[in-house]
Amino acid sequence: MPEPIRLTRVPSLKTVEDFRRHVASLGIELPCEDQIATGNASPLVRPVGETAVNGKKIGNRWAIQPMEGWDGTTTGGVTDEVRRRWQRFGESGAKLIYGGEAMAVRPDGRANPNQLIIVEQNKKDLAEIREILVRTHKERYGTTDDLVIGFQLTHSGRFCKPNDKFRMEPRVAYRHPILDRKFKVASDEQVFADDEIGRLIECYVGAARIAWDVGADFVDIKHCHGYLLHEFLSAHTRPGKYGGSFENRTRILREIIAGIRASGNKIEIGVRLSAFDFVPFKPDASLSQPGKLGPGIPEDFSHCLPYHYGFGVNPDNPVEPDLTEAIQFIKLCGESGVKIVNLSAGSPYYNPHIQRPAIYPPSDGYQPPEDPLIGVARQINAVRQVKQSVGKLNGSNRLNELNELNEARQDVSTHLTTRPILVGTAYSYLQEYLPHVAQYVVRNGWVDIVGLGRMVLAYPTILADAVEKGTVIPKFICRTFSDCTTAPRNGMISGCYPLDRYYTTKPEFQKLKEVKKAVGA
Ligand SMILES: Cc1cc2nc3c(=O)[nH]c(=O)nc-3n(C[C@H](O)[C@H](O)[C@H](O)COP(=O)(O)O)c2cc1C
Ligand code: SF4
Repeated sequence: MPEPIRLTRVPSLKTVEDFRRHVASLGIELPCEDQIATGNASPLVRPVGETAVNGKKIGNRWAIQPMEGWDGTTTGGVTDEVRRRWQRFGESGAKLIYGGEAMAVRPDGRANPNQLIIVEQNKKDLAEIREILVRTHKERYGTTDDLVIGFQLTHSGRFCKPNDKFRMEPRVAYRHPILDRKFKVASDEQVFADDEIGRLIECYVGAARIAWDVGADFVDIKHCHGYLLHEFLSAHTRPGKYGGSFENRTRILREIIAGIRASGNKIEIGVRLSAFDFVPFKPDASLSQPGKLGPGIPEDFSHCLPYHYGFGVNPDNPVEPDLTEAIQFIKLCGESGVKIVNLSAGSPYYNPHIQRPAIYPPSDGYQPPEDPLIGVARQINAVRQVKQSVGKLNGSNRLNELNELNEARQDVSTHLTTRPILVGTAYSYLQEYLPHVAQYVVRNGWVDIVGLGRMVLAYPTILADAVEKGTVIPKFICRTFSDCTTAPRNGMISGCYPLDRYYTTKPEFQKLKEVKKAVGA
């Protein structure tokens, strides 16, 4: 019988040398700097000078990733928990707030009945949370002239649960040979028809108008994690004008952008993309024990090869990234005027170890099939590869190329495309070594901006502390306990239950303990 893998915990790596040795033993490329740099010696405090977003230069090199909290009102408005989260985003010192949290562009597109909905009725609430964030940031960091804030726009597609926390109401881009069974898709009526897409696009255009009215600098048109627009990118088998060719599979994004521009809205646009994907995974039943599911293994995909049901995956070996189309897509984004692309991977619903590497899975999740640092390195190296392929921020690669070709200068302006600013993901599992790796990847041009997800729920000011004091506070560091995922999976609000004292006093804290005890987690 195969043995489950033995994992080395990051806090047991006491020095940078220990960390490096462990990384080397895994055979991955994950470089880091020797020390945490402070002040101007840190590459993390340098503004992103080349590209302005809504007239602002992003003031430093870390971003807050979008994170929903399952804690809005049932009409999509804000609550005290939402206000507090946005306040902490402001406290973090990050100069890019990439999306805040996923906001549904219409009520039936929610991933849970308490997700924010970006509609006219909730305008005041959305203005308020943005204002809280800006005010908090200003109080602590002085200026907001270099603070860029986006709202993430979404339709949850296959993962819609708009009315009941435990009832899926999926709407999909196409029938999927593995996911349909897992997520209760049983009828072609659940497939979005071409003639429903115009209305969907209007919702995105309307949401972008609201975002602009309440002061957001950009909207993120979410194309990641298996949600609706991400699924359209892999709609190879879908007939009609939104499926098949690359052009068709990316048509919705182009139509949304055209709609926003045609409406006279000047808001900037970002896209969060799962740059690569794998087939869905499941727990290895042969290694499952009571209360502990086995490590993740791929679902059987032998009946669906070549695999035409994912984006950014090798169709002949769908547990291997293929970045060809992701690179093509990011170039398309640049040509379409998208200012920021935030690269993520996979989906929390069907292959969480590639999406958010963790040592402790959520209570219903499989054990990690690999050292989570392998997952971190996979995402960091994918961004590096993409960045090398899409040129420089100010478009100078293309300019030089055209000059060399001796083309007339007036043609240059029409050919010149500025690539989007690239934000990277999956740094939280680095824990103590997050600043060291972040410094390396920014200093060496592997990524423009480092995005922080779970770490911010536990320790919002980790990088502000790093660049100000040269140290971080170990007791606040996210250890990837996954309670922020286990809680919502069990109908509760999200948050860092183990480390954020705000949640220890809540009734949900006790309930979560009981849920975990019941499943033996
Ligand atoms: C509680 C929670 C909520 C999340 N909500 C969103 C979301 O609304 N939109 C999104 O694009 N990603 C969401 N994510 C994914 C994160 O943005 C991020 O990609 C992921 O946690 C990996 O980054 P990390 O290693 O820094 O945590 C969420 C993650 C968590 C843990
Ligand atoms: S619950 Fe806290 S420690 Fe656990 S993964 Fe979420 S943020 Fe990190």
